[in-house]
Order: sequence, then structure tokens, then C-alpha cells
Amino acid sequence: MSILITNIKELIQVRDTNVTIVKGSDMKTLPVIKNAYLFIEHDTIVEYGSMDDYQDIDADEVIDATGKVVMPSWCDSHTHIVYAGNRVREFVDRINGLSYEEIANNGGGILNSAEKLQNTSEEELYQQSLKRLNEVIKLGTGTVEIKSGYGLTVDAELKMLRVIKRLKRESLAFIKPTLLGAHAVPKEYSNNKSAYVDLVVNELIPKATEEHLAEYIDVFCEKGYFDLDDTEKILKAGVAHGLKPKIHVNQFNAFGGVALGVKYDALSVDHLEEMNKEDIEALKNSNTMPVALPSCSYFLSIPYTPARQMIDAGLPLALATDYNPGSTPSGNMNFVVSTACIKMKMTPEEAINAATINGAYAMGLSNMYGSICRGKKANVIITKEIPNYQFIPYAFGENLIDEVIINGIRLD
Ligand code: NIG
Ligand code: FE
Repeated sequence: MSILITNIKELIQVRDTNVTIVKGSDMKTLPVIKNAYLFIEHDTIVEYGSMDDYQDIDADEVIDATGKVVMPSWCDSHTHIVYAGNRVREFVDRINGLSYEEIANNGGGILNSAEKLQNTSEEELYQQSLKRLNEVIKLGTGTVEIKSGYGLTVDAELKMLRVIKRLKRESLAFIKPTLLGAHAVPKEYSNNKSAYVDLVVNELIPKATEEHLAEYIDVFCEKGYFDLDDTEKILKAGVAHGLKPKIHVNQFNAFGGVALGVKYDALSVDHLEEMNKEDIEALKNSNTMPVALPSCSYFLSIPYTPARQMIDAGLPLALATDYNPGSTPSGNMNFVVSTACIKMKMTPEEAINAATINGAYAMGLSNMYGSICRGKKANVIITKEIPNYQFIPYAFGENLIDEVIINGIRLD
């Protein structure tokens, strides 16, 4: 099976060499070929170039992309797509004046989702999650990280991870699984948090890794959830079992979680709505990708990650959705990219780099995904006819996607 795309108005994020991360001022550069072609064989990008240099290629299918932009699929490195039911009532409660924190303290929030998930069968959980996953694939996402964290018992966490594994097996998207057992302190442990941390360390991590259900270890390191000591214990145990850290830090408070993540060579530190100078310093000269989640800031009306400050300090930055029922009931990467431009003052080039190549880095996938490069996987978005790629973040809220190719397969 081969696909040839011709007359592409702009082929963007084209990299001749296998760049795996872009940082600081390099994020301003988004390589583009105007009037281009792209040739895909099976699941792989084989050739591309200017139509001026095009020589006849025999392909099974030809797509004429006159007036259209072609780009690599979005790489969404932070989601909680597997959940049961919804939290629309809390949404209304927040409109009526309660804060996210107040709702959580009243037994809502993550604990509310955990109760729903514990009472949902594995099959039903799979069906609800598959529906969401298929929707985000249609919106141009080709690689997705998915976390557990709404189980909060050993059995329910393993149930979530098995659902993620089945999605990975049966969906066209490439999925990376993360164990987030320490997402909130379950009700039964409200007076004995350390016993829950012990459960995560001594039972959950060993069982999940024995069954090869996770690659990453995550902790919600935040006041009222897990402190630096708890986080360190869990990261240590995760690392000892071969899991790499990818952690929630600095969503509401900055108290050293970023430096702790860097100390354990985290692949990414995510949220970062509250950043101080020490956090930025800690990230310099590290291999850790900072990840911003602007649609969470939008939905909760909390500050946006200070992207300008971070990129201007020479750091890389990735963008992800945080798709979850409480703080971000949306998996739309197009909206994330627009919001990053509008609210975080990222240029379209920076935002697209952050949502493709750097997102792939934050999942350990940037040598196979995240750019148009010979030998990389054929995950591409073909837009409708638009004036240029800057139009993608500009026309916020509009679905500009005409067609998606994932793993070399045209989605209908
Ligand atoms: O990343 N902040 C922690 N966890 C999720 C939200 C969880 C929820 O409200 O259900 C997040 O925003
Ligand atoms: Fe999250």
C-alpha cells in the first residue's frame, strides 16, 4: 500500500535529519517546503520534496492537496482519557462559585471519578474510553500518553491499565501507558496517607510492572495530595522497577517538585502553571521536557504556564491536552495550539513544534514520530484549503482538518 500526496501548499515540520527535540530560540523555526509532495509506503514516510523536483512515482493512491497544508499528526503526551462517566455537575458547581479545591475537599474531584470507575466494568470502561480516543484521532492526534489514576485501589488501577493496554493493541494511535496510582489519597486512607504511599510502592508498582502494564510513573505532587517526600518514595520505587518518571507538578503551588523530577531524570514535568526562578534553573541542562496544558488553565481559569519566560531562558516546551473529566474535558490539540498562541504568546511555529516533535519527546517517541522525516511513521494531517499554516491557530475553534493518515492508513 502506498500513498502519494501532491501539490501540497505547505508541507510543514520537515526535518532532513532526525531532530528529536527543539529548545529555546530554535523553537521559532518551523521548516516548510512550499508546493511539495510526500510519498508514503506502508506505515512509513519514504520521500518528500518540492514539486519542482518531483519525478513520477507509482503509488496505489494519489491525493491532490492543492491549497492544503500537510503536517505531522499531533503528539499528545499527557492525557487521562480512560475514565468513567463525567463531572458535569462539578462544572456547574464551579460556575456557581465553588472552587476546584473546594469541590475536591467536599469529596468531589478525583475521588468522585474514582468511585465511578470502581463501579464500572472493564468492558464498559474500554467502550467509553475508545469513543474518546477515536474522537481525538479524528482531530489529528496520532500518539497519546494515557494515565491510570482514577482507580485508587490496586484492582481498579490494574483495571485501568489493562484498558489502556487493550486500547494500545486495538487502536491505530500509538499509546504510551503511565501508572498514576498516587493521583489522590483515597477516602479510606484520609488519616493515613503514608499507608497509601506504601501500598503504591509495595503492591501497585510491583504488580503493574510484573504484568508490563506501564512504562512511566506519575505522581500528583501538590499541596493536599502528595508532598515531596511521598513523591520521592514513589519515584524511587518506580525507577527501581524500570519506570521513568513523568510527573504532575506546580499546578497550584511551586515547592520544589520540578527539581525533584529533574533529580530522578523525569522524561517530563507537567502543568507548571506556577513557576519560579529555581524551577527554570533546575530544568536548564536537564533531559526533562517541561509540558504545558493550556486547556486545563482555560477550563479552570488558573494561570497559564509562563511559556515566554521558559522558552526565552533557552528551555524546550511541549504542549498537551490533559484530557480528563475534572480539569480538562477536551482532547482537542488544535484548541491547545490556538490557546498557546493566544494566551501564552507562543508563536505558531513554537506552538506547532511544542505539539509535535517536543510532544513526541515527552513520550520517548521523537525518533519515530513528530516530524516529516524519511523513515519516520506516516502519521499526517491534511488540512482543508487554508491560506497558510499560521491559519491553524488563528482560526481557533474551527475544525480545519480535511483528512488524517495514521500509520499509513487513510481514516475515513
Ligand atoms: O492533570 N491535576 C491532577 N490531575 C488532573 C485532574 C484530575 C481531575 O480533576 O480529575 C490534571 O489536571
Ligand atoms: Fe493531568
